Parts: sequence; C-alpha cells; structure tokens
Amino acid sequence: MIGQIKALIQSWDDQQAAYITNREQRFDVMLDVIARVCDSSATFGGDGTGLTVLDLACGPGSLSQRILDRFPAVDVIGIDYDPVLLALASAWLGERHGSRFTPLDADLAASGWASMLPAGGVHVAVSSTALHWLEPSELVALYGTLGGVLPEGGVFMDADHLRYDSAAQPMLTELAAADDERTRRAAYGRGVQTWDQWWADAVALPLLAEHSEERTRRFADRPPTPHAPLELHLSALRTAGFVETGVVWRLYDDVVILGRR
Ligand SMILES: C[S@@+](CC[C@H](N)C(=O)[O-])C[C@H]1O[C@@H](n2cnc3c(N)ncnc32)[C@H](O)[C@@H]1O
Repeated sequence: MIGQIKALIQSWDDQQAAYITNREQRFDVMLDVIARVCDSSATFGGDGTGLTVLDLACGPGSLSQRILDRFPAVDVIGIDYDPVLLALASAWLGERHGSRFTPLDADLAASGWASMLPAGGVHVAVSSTALHWLEPSELVALYGTLGGVLPEGGVFMDADHLRYDSAAQPMLTELAAADDERTRRAAYGRGVQTWDQWWADAVALPLLAEHSEERTRRFADRPPTPHAPLELHLSALRTAGFVETGVVWRLYDDVVILGRR
C-alpha cells in the first residue's frame, strides 16, 4: 500500500509541476523563510523545535512534507476540505513523520475553521497553489482570521499564480501565458499525467475511493472564482494586522507573497 501511496505523491508532484515552472524553487524559498523565523527567535530551535506551521489547503501534503523533511522537530497542521486528498496526506505523512503531522478537515471558505486548531497556537502559516479557489471576499475573511491566529512576529506565505490584468498588462499577460505553455508542453512531452488522469488513478485506490463520493458532494457547487490580484492580497493582509507585506519570489505571475504580523 505505501508503495502505491508514494507513487501517487510522486505523480501529484509531477502533474502540479506541469502548471508551475519552478515549483521546487518556489517551495525552497518558503523553507528558507521558515529557517529565518527559527534562527531569529530564541523561542525556536534551528531544527524547528517549538515551531508549529499551518499549511492551508495542504492537498496531499506537498508543502507540509517538505517542511517536515527539512525541519526534523517542527509540527505541521494541514487543513483541507477535500476528503480524498486529506486521506492521502494523512497516510503519506503519518507513515513518514508520525504525529508531527496533524490533518484537519475544514472548509477555509467558511468561518469557524480557526476554532478547530489544536491548543498551543501556530507561528507560521503557508499555502501553495490553493487560495485562488476562494472568492475574493472569502480570501479577505480568511486573512482577517489569520491575523488573529498568528502571534505578533508570526509569518504567512502564499505561493500561487496571481494573474496579471490582461487589459492593463497585455504584454505581461502574454509572457506569463507563454511560460505556462512551455512548461505544460515540456511536461506532457515527458509523459506527465494530466489532472484528470491523476484523479482516475487516485480514486482507484480503495483507501481513497471510499472518500470519492463525499468529495464530489462537497465541491459540486463551487464554480471557478473571480481572480484576486496581488494588490488585493497585500492590502487585505495589511488590514488584517500584518505590519510588513511584500513579494519574496516571483516568476511572471507566479508569486510567493509574505505577511509578517
Ligand atoms: C491544487 S491543490 C494544491 C495542494 C497543495 N497545497 C500543493 O501545493 O500541492 C488545491 C487544494 O486546495 C484545496 N481547497 C480548495 N478549496 C478549499 C477550501 N474551501 N477549504 C480547504 N481547502 C480547499 C483543495 O482541496 C486542494 O487540496
């Protein structure tokens, strides 16, 4: 079983990298920021001792896994609303890191998720390739909640495509689209699975198949959301009490933003 889970995790990483040109570099920058948080506070050890990281919309645990691998004493809480992906994350990270990973089944588009967090608090919150699923108003509400969840000095980072304005920035829009297209073509040329192919394999595994119906039910009424531009993210973070905000990494419209409470 663990062999099949490992193969699914690898093929998830491959199919996600077909959408994100420098996915590993993007993760590495986020890990470097977490290292800096550890090193700049007497409260945390350099190995992540004392630090709890919250991974918002963790999916199968891609970013959680990299954090747990790099910081051998950190704890990670992964929230997701997809019961299939959360079951995969639990199986994969439970096997690899035991109780250092806590899965949490919650809808980030609804209020109340913060009350489900275990006592002890979180110090860093991260997210990758996920918050574009939220309506702009839900995103603003999420950031408002995060402002209350993170302590002073706590750090939030989000890695995602924050699309250019095609009317005001036509050249940038074209450059970003060309980069996306090159990356996708190269990946599919190497035989990387599409999103749909990956999902067909995933729900064929009995451990995940049992959650498939519930997944369909939960996401049935969620149409594509309007786009929230970079400026909206940064101003919503400032309104939520983040005193320093900005971009720590970018390639065209693929951006890692940071907010410090
Ligand atoms: C493309 S995946 C990214 C997963 C992972 N963070 C990664 O980088 O590979 C997007 C994730 O957002 C999650 N998601 C979407 N809407 C959500 C919501 N309202 N609450 C919690 N998770 C949500 C999906 O279930 C999915 O796991």
